[in-house]
Amino acid sequence: MNSESQSTSKLVPQHVAIIMDGNGRWAKKKGKIRTFGHRAGVKGVRASVSFSLKNNIKVLTLFAFSSENWNRPQEEVGVLMELFKMVLSSEVKKLHKNNVKLRVIGDTSRFDKKLVAQIQDAEALTENNDGLILNIAANYGGRWDILNATKALAEQVKEGSLECEQIDEAMLNRYTCCADLPELDLLIRTGGETRISNFLLWQVAYAELYFTDTYWPDFNEDAFQLAIDNFADRQRRYGMTGEQVS
Ligand code: IPE
Ligand code: IPE
Ligand code: MG
Repeated sequence: MNSESQSTSKLVPQHVAIIMDGNGRWAKKKGKIRTFGHRAGVKGVRASVSFSLKNNIKVLTLFAFSSENWNRPQEEVGVLMELFKMVLSSEVKKLHKNNVKLRVIGDTSRFDKKLVAQIQDAEALTENNDGLILNIAANYGGRWDILNATKALAEQVKEGSLECEQIDEAMLNRYTCCADLPELDLLIRTGGETRISNFLLWQVAYAELYFTDTYWPDFNEDAFQLAIDNFADRQRRYGMTGEQVS
């Protein structure tokens, strides 16, 4: 490919993940309590789903609650759980109408019965949709994901159905939460911090990273477009030289 065609071939991500951060600081800036920011953050979720639908993104993975977020004040955790329930009951029908397949990744066993039932119902309702896959990471941790996969393989070795030497990256990948999804292309973090916070550790290996100072409640379709434009001009080299991949 010559330099002219390289400059015209723009990259389009299939799988985008977002660390939706900055709700608390957004609220504080407005003189409000942190949970006000979480409620406002629902706007950002709607905008990013709508943008993904319009732009043919195949998978959108949203970090809604990390395995470490249980360590926040109990009241804040309570509001987040209630909000999760509220959003599920108000948005699922609309998602279904838009052919969205909703899935939740993470250890849902720690959630209350009502929330677990709501998650199961939403997943069942949208199971056969083949538009956007909306992956919600809830009580998710990247280390937990890798540990689960490791344990599943260790069990098979213990039973004698698997030899240690047979284990390779592809096999371990099959036991992680995103096994059946396209590779993660772009990871966006809002809110100004430049860290991964135990999100998709295994999957992030060759993802492109994009950090923005925009707080999550202000993350709208224009802000998403900026991230996509930034991604479009990158060169993904996977360890090779620029000349090899162009
Ligand atoms: C992200 O916003 C939402 C969750 C982690 C659930 P934060 O609540 O972390 O907002 P900041 O980072 O404190 O501003
Ligand atoms: C990461 O944000 C988790 C979610 C966005 C759900 P945090 O606000 O919890 O991350 P840290 O604590 O700043 O690393
Ligand atoms: Mg935060």
